[in-house]
Amino acid sequence: MVADKTIIEVDNLTFRYDLRKKKQILSAISFSVKQGEWIAVVGDNGSGKSTLARLLVGLLEPENGTITIDGIQLNEETKWDIRKKIGLVFQNPENQFIGTTVQDDVAFGLENNNTPYNEMKQIVEEALQLVEMDMYWDQDPSRLSGGQKQRVAIAGILAFKPNVIILDEAFVMLDPKSRNQLLSTLKQLREKRNITIISVTHDMNEAAIADRILVMDDGTIIQDSTPEAVFKTNQQLAAPFPEQLRRKLAESGSNVPQTYMTEDEMVRWLCK
Ligand SMILES: Nc1ncnc2c1ncn2[C@@H]1O[C@H](COP(=O)(O)OP(=O)(O)O)[C@@H](O)[C@H]1O
Ligand SMILES: [Mg+2]
Repeated sequence: MVADKTIIEVDNLTFRYDLRKKKQILSAISFSVKQGEWIAVVGDNGSGKSTLARLLVGLLEPENGTITIDGIQLNEETKWDIRKKIGLVFQNPENQFIGTTVQDDVAFGLENNNTPYNEMKQIVEEALQLVEMDMYWDQDPSRLSGGQKQRVAIAGILAFKPNVIILDEAFVMLDPKSRNQLLSTLKQLREKRNITIISVTHDMNEAAIADRILVMDDGTIIQDSTPEAVFKTNQQLAAPFPEQLRRKLAESGSNVPQTYMTEDEMVRWLCK
């Protein structure tokens, strides 16, 4: 359920890694996100998706423009508080573990935060339950499967009760089954906790389940609309499978609807 509260406000964001170079990696990006929305970010390699993700969690500093998370403007002073509201999961799960057990790992950020032991224990257990990894609490995280590692990484973020989770191609290393399981866990999380999800992805079937898609190209956002509008107007992007099927059916003379169809709509149409 998408509430009316704006959780992310990005205004005129500009960024360069190398200030000696003129070319901007991100140039004058603006967009906003409501609490509980699911946003997909798509675009070619090098278009600036990961840079945007790092800026949003305060790992990089903007050259110009502002990022406001839950009403607080991101800067050097506020970034530690803001990191409790917005967490980032990377592509490679191997690089995000510090602890020797799953439990330690999820607790790591909380320890830095001076949370009392008993409270911490409970928070960790709850976070692991949410990603269905509570039975692995005493295992060595390096021995888990890719999908399980990403779940633990997500639990580490959930421990802070964040408003937003950003996934930067976090499913790339996973097999289709773990990918689908993780996606359905995220859908549930959104329902249970009204968490906002920003998912950077190359998978158009995954982008199709978002409320909105941001299309990035060479450091700018060239499109910010519903999957329906994006796949209708943007011929550069491979359409999700049901839409490809719809186009093929239309070409071969079937009286399939002329407008974009989601998987559910396609199933309903095929079964009627
Ligand atoms: N650490 C870095 N130092 C310098 N340039 C970088 C760095 N990371 C990315 N870039 C450059 O910034 C641009 C955007 O990269 P990135 O945000 O990783 O794009 P995407 O995630 O969409 O593939 C690319 O031209 C890339 O080469
Ligand atoms: Mg990237």
